[in-house]
Amino acid sequence: MDQMNKRVYIKTVGCQMNVLDSEMVIADLKRHGYTVVDTPKEADCIFYNTCSVREHAEEKIYSALGKIRQTKEQQPDKLIGVMGCMAQKDQEIVFKRAPYVDMVIGPGQLHRVPDLIEKVRAGEGRQMAVSLKRNEGSRAVIARSHETFDPLRDPSMRPTPFQAYLRIQIGCDKFCTYCVVPNTRGPEQGRPPEQIVSEAQILAEQGCREITLLGQTVNSYKFKNEDGSTTDMADLLEQLQPIEGLERIKFVTNYPKDMTERLLCTIRDLPKVSPYLHVPAQSGSDAVLKRMKRGYTVADYMEMFERIERILPEAAISSDFIVGFSGETEEDFQKTIKLVERCRFKNSFIFQYSVRPGTKAADRLPDDIAREVKIRRNNELLAVQDAIAREDNQKLIGQTVDVLVEGPSKKGLKSPEGAVVQMTGRTHCDRIVVFDGNRRQAGQFMKIHVDDCSSHTLVGRVETVDVVTIGGLA
Ligand code: SAH
Ligand code: SF4
Ligand code: F3S
Repeated sequence: MDQMNKRVYIKTVGCQMNVLDSEMVIADLKRHGYTVVDTPKEADCIFYNTCSVREHAEEKIYSALGKIRQTKEQQPDKLIGVMGCMAQKDQEIVFKRAPYVDMVIGPGQLHRVPDLIEKVRAGEGRQMAVSLKRNEGSRAVIARSHETFDPLRDPSMRPTPFQAYLRIQIGCDKFCTYCVVPNTRGPEQGRPPEQIVSEAQILAEQGCREITLLGQTVNSYKFKNEDGSTTDMADLLEQLQPIEGLERIKFVTNYPKDMTERLLCTIRDLPKVSPYLHVPAQSGSDAVLKRMKRGYTVADYMEMFERIERILPEAAISSDFIVGFSGETEEDFQKTIKLVERCRFKNSFIFQYSVRPGTKAADRLPDDIAREVKIRRNNELLAVQDAIAREDNQKLIGQTVDVLVEGPSKKGLKSPEGAVVQMTGRTHCDRIVVFDGNRRQAGQFMKIHVDDCSSHTLVGRVETVDVVTIGGLA
């Protein structure tokens, strides 16, 4: 195959896991001689790395597939691949809805991408590579069919050159009734700590100053070592702390019940570990939490929350909420508002319940909250959360924060090369900060004086070390 066949375009939607998976796939393809292009038009292979968590995410991909149908008819040699969670969930349905798709590849089969392209090109017809479903064998056998292929990396695909995701756990065993992830990503499996530490070392050597450890319930991380001992999240953080060059360690997403005293004390005692905890509550009503099968009550959540407040008083805590879940009454919803008012999260991602085929809720619980009600509750909760975030951000006005500069902000990207540009970065607590600076500051830690804010952003300026007064002009 000549190089002309080897231009690949990849569109990624969904969570950080997918961003990381795309990085791995691209690294693998580059090793096989492929180059990455920016548009489907220039590409010989077009990939969609998909998400199934809500219906809307899937519809967006089917609509994108619809749009390239004509292109495929005119240029049948252009290969189209659908990978990720929707590939695993829909399997044959992808081929039914978009018969011109050449490859369907689940997230546990991504190591096979180069091989599958070869097969299609060799005339072997369309290819499907998916992992076993949760009822198709013993746990161990299903787990083995969901493979990660993490050692391959491609720095050019990262959010920035100084930040990287690092997977420590794949899959999920919590089976919240609304959620498709245990089906698409398979059983929960912790990666061996030696692998994680060595990958972190390589990332640090490549210039990464911040890593974000990824797992669906990242703080439940456990690995049984060959000598019979177990490494948990606290142990892992201790092993990562000494890595030279690494300055910040973040991790998402946390499961409330596994936020132990020991883990919190470890976070407090390790300066590189960010005092930022994303611990989704999902609802403030016990009845709803029970139907969601989240495994905790509001009182349990609050007990955990107060434990964080006691051990890590400076920590920023964020959450996810689903509004309009089956049977959610107005009273249930008001309880969610109360929880947000009590916890004063740094931010919350709010989602309207979307029925996911194959989940327990889809089989057993009616989707009985009207769309308009879901929308209203979404807006109401968002307004409460945003007002709180703005108030809490206002308290930071006048203070100086430590920012890892990521690069030009969206606004800054539009400025001409070389000029003063609006730069963006984040604090240790994951607060977004924008300030006027220059592109060379990307990757540096800078002290920024906060002058203003909105609910999502702090606005500041680079703090000058000494203010020198010359000739009476300050
Ligand atoms: N593992 C993470 C979340 C993964 S999905 C956790 O347990 O917190 C990210 C978020 O999407 C969830 O926290 C939830 O708020 C939302 N979500 C998941 N399934 C959903 C559904 N069927 N409808 C609406 N929102 C959903
Ligand atoms: Fe989904 Fe629940 Fe697992 Fe999170 S913990 S991925 S919400 S099943
Ligand atoms: Fe979506 Fe799969 Fe992530 S369903 S949220 S891409 S784990």
